[in-house]
Amino acid sequence: MKILFVTSEIAPWVKTGGLGDVAAALPGALQRAGCEVQVLVPCYPALASAFPQRHYVADVPPLGGLLPEAQISMAPAADGYELLLLECPVCYERYGNPYLGSDLRDWSDNAIRFGLLSRVAAWLATDAAMPRVAPDVLHCHDWQAAMAPAYMRYRPGKRRPASVVTIHNLAFQGLFDPHVLADIALPPQAFTFDGVEFHGRLCFLKAGLECADHITTVSPTYAHEIQSYGHGYGLDGLLRHRADDLSGILNGIDTELWNPATDKLIAAEYAADSLARKGSNKLALQRQLGLDENPHAPLLGMVARMTDQKGCDLVLAEAEALLVAGAQFAVLGAGERRYAQHWQELARKYPDQCGTAIGYDERLAHQIEAGADIFLMPSRFEPCGLNQMYSLRYGTPPVVRRTGGLADTVVDCTPETLADGTATGFVFGDATRPALRHAIERAIATWRDANAWQALQRAGMARDFSWSGPARAYLSVFERACRAARDA
Ligand code: ADP
Ligand code: GLC
Repeated sequence: MKILFVTSEIAPWVKTGGLGDVAAALPGALQRAGCEVQVLVPCYPALASAFPQRHYVADVPPLGGLLPEAQISMAPAADGYELLLLECPVCYERYGNPYLGSDLRDWSDNAIRFGLLSRVAAWLATDAAMPRVAPDVLHCHDWQAAMAPAYMRYRPGKRRPASVVTIHNLAFQGLFDPHVLADIALPPQAFTFDGVEFHGRLCFLKAGLECADHITTVSPTYAHEIQSYGHGYGLDGLLRHRADDLSGILNGIDTELWNPATDKLIAAEYAADSLARKGSNKLALQRQLGLDENPHAPLLGMVARMTDQKGCDLVLAEAEALLVAGAQFAVLGAGERRYAQHWQELARKYPDQCGTAIGYDERLAHQIEAGADIFLMPSRFEPCGLNQMYSLRYGTPPVVRRTGGLADTVVDCTPETLADGTATGFVFGDATRPALRHAIERAIATWRDANAWQALQRAGMARDFSWSGPARAYLSVFERACRAARDA
């Protein structure tokens, strides 16, 4: 089965969050599961310099509207699949975040930039202009690629492959003024309630959810949640309507990159049978962040985009009380300024206990996973979440809220789950300060009981979060989508 995988980010070159990680790992896993995968991604400067030897394979024909000229080049990726780079310097030759300018505002031409990505994906899939790229399934990720199935519907070509849209985060929908319709070369008849229109605006994600043969999202619980008013961002009605074509497939993680036994980014490598060495990582992290080198202080770690989604406000509301009680924090994140400032203030006030790094730092992310005692991820919503899986693998039990992929990956520690060996972390329900505080206190109390803690660590480290299971689940979704496309 041939898959054209369309994404707006791919680690390690361009990554703003988990989508970059997924796009880096899932194509290889699909390839190992027997698919032939090509990944279409905009040629941002980081990709251009990573693949100087790429070769041009096609000129994209004029696509209409204001969509600029573009070319396709090709490069082999390490994992056996092929990278198709969408070359269009006016759209993609911009440094830094792929979606935002240095003023932290969305680029004003994002509809064109990702309209182009989606349009080119549909052209490659349907036009048969490049026989080498004639996929059975067009697999589109998030709003930036989600317009592709709509182009397949409203601008049909010679072929009609199946289409699958994967939702990584329903909160980001790609909403634009209606005049953009003509700019991105969609016909007026696309602008209807069962097309690309959403409350008078043009919506990339909705277009994909309407037009794709199948929809997936990144955990079973999130698949269920987004069909409800509270988590649906106005799209819950549509998702309920398409419930039979909606699947939740839990993400995997890159178990080579995130392996404490071989991780070169951490101070001391360790495994489930050498947990004592994890202490060296704690000491190194304390030293690096200028904290008291005290093995008896519980060290709470957090690596996250600093946004409401991640529950930053909840942690900040409890942080000072926890510091006063003797806990330490190691916090890494980028995002909303108010959260960053608050963490920096705490770091100034409690320099021996609170280490804050604002920005993006892959190495420190690994060091926090390895060096912290407890990992905090009290998200308000979490489609899947990767960090809690990294922390389980690093023997750093997480405190999480019962939502989305967090609910699907962490087993709450109770006397029963501890006794039967299934407990892996601490799960709480309400997104409130007292509920979070209670969960953190339970975690700290358990951490003080060395035997119970080691049982928890080992249970988490033994969990299999590799991509092979999810890749098989995608394969059966692809087969279903192909049947649906044949019947369409
Ligand atoms: P989301 O995609 O919602 O941000 P995930 O948990 O799925 O959340 O993935 C986040 C990814 O980004 C993880 O690989 C995490 O380690 C990484 N990450 C987030 N913030 C930072 C940061 N400031 N520095 C380094 N890595 C980060
Ligand atoms: C999104 C979600 C996150 C998920 C990631 C990868 O960014 O917020 O929960 O893990 O996508 O699917």
